[in-house]
Amino acid sequence: MADRVKVAVLGATGLVGQVFVKLLSGHPFFEIAYLAASERSAGKRYVEAVNWVLGGDPPGEVADLTVGLVKPDAIPGDVELVFSALPSSVALDVEVGAARRGFTVVSNASPLRLEADVPLIIPEINWDHIRLLEVQRRRRGWRGAIVKNSNCTTAILTLSLKPLLDRFGLEEVFVSTMQAVSGAGYRGVPSVAIIDNIIPFIRNEEEKVMNESRKILGTLRGDHVEPASFRIYATCTRAPVINGHMETVYARLARSASIEDVLAAWEEFRGLEGLPTAPAKPVIVRREADRPQTRLDRDAGGGMSVSVGRYTLYSERLLRYIVLGHNLVRGAAGNTILIAEMMYREGLL
Ligand SMILES: NC(=O)c1ccc[n+]([C@@H]2O[C@H](COP(=O)([O-])OP(=O)(O)OC[C@H]3O[C@@H](n4cnc5c(N)ncnc54)[C@H](OP(=O)(O)O)[C@@H]3O)[C@@H](O)[C@H]2O)c1
Repeated sequence: MADRVKVAVLGATGLVGQVFVKLLSGHPFFEIAYLAASERSAGKRYVEAVNWVLGGDPPGEVADLTVGLVKPDAIPGDVELVFSALPSSVALDVEVGAARRGFTVVSNASPLRLEADVPLIIPEINWDHIRLLEVQRRRRGWRGAIVKNSNCTTAILTLSLKPLLDRFGLEEVFVSTMQAVSGAGYRGVPSVAIIDNIIPFIRNEEEKVMNESRKILGTLRGDHVEPASFRIYATCTRAPVINGHMETVYARLARSASIEDVLAAWEEFRGLEGLPTAPAKPVIVRREADRPQTRLDRDAGGGMSVSVGRYTLYSERLLRYIVLGHNLVRGAAGNTILIAEMMYREGLL
């Protein structure tokens, strides 16, 4: 595994950061060269700084790395790619600083996701939007670049909607979610608030789902993305599961379909070939009456596939289904690494 691209992970001790570390361990294209977190963690060995939640121990190749500070100047010069899993409150300044210094940043944090010159990418859906990087470099004069991963709920939803949009068109979408506690980060939801409870509010989440979905499913027109024109309404709730977001979707199609047409659209949706993190099937259809289920299906395709089931056509154009996906993998670190793998393959790093 000679000549791997050296990468940094910012926010490496958090929940998304840990999944980055796990997925990047032994990666054929990328090698972790720098891990950074808050001042609470900086200066400690990774294995001492992290509250490792993924089972077993942190990978041996990073266990003894000293955690650095989350500062653009602290990132070693031989790093080519920066993965950001920083809280949104600190991400903007750090990511822009890193892009100015010449680093390519692929980020999970929400700032800039809706900026016209910032690609917001789910590789199987809208890889062509990466061309916004040319606009970004021209407008902002950065030597590096910023590419964004979407909100976790949005990533799972849009993968299930894309085959429907392409084949039948969409007029409107209503989505209601049951989201895992890990979606809020390591210190996110106190256990006394969520055990034996459903919380019907997640700050800013519904707006993110509505705005980001239309950008991801939109069309690249020269120097901007024209958002998809369907109407979308979201209700987001927090449920007492650790990982895995479940979403109930009602989609009004633009053209009539039979349930066989709908299943064919999902089953024929193709994955990306030849990339380590790309699942063979981004969308898996569960035909059992009681699937998908959080515990049984969140790890499908290594956490990179979403599972759809409970589908019913109430008329030829009104479809109901449930989609489930892993918020930390497809909804965060896994999708971000897949973006980076595409950039590597296309010589964009
Ligand atoms: N969780 C998900 O499902 C998900 C999905 C999509 C996107 N995201 C986004 O991904 C990002 C990370 O989420 P997460 O769930 O991994 O959060 P998290 O578990 O709270 O982790 C936050 C990370 O950032 C570091 N950090 C916190 N405050 C900092 C500061 N002031 N300066 C420098 N570093 C700081 C923490 O370091 P210490 O350990 O030292 O405190 C930790 O490494 C967020 O922007 C989130 O919105 C999360």
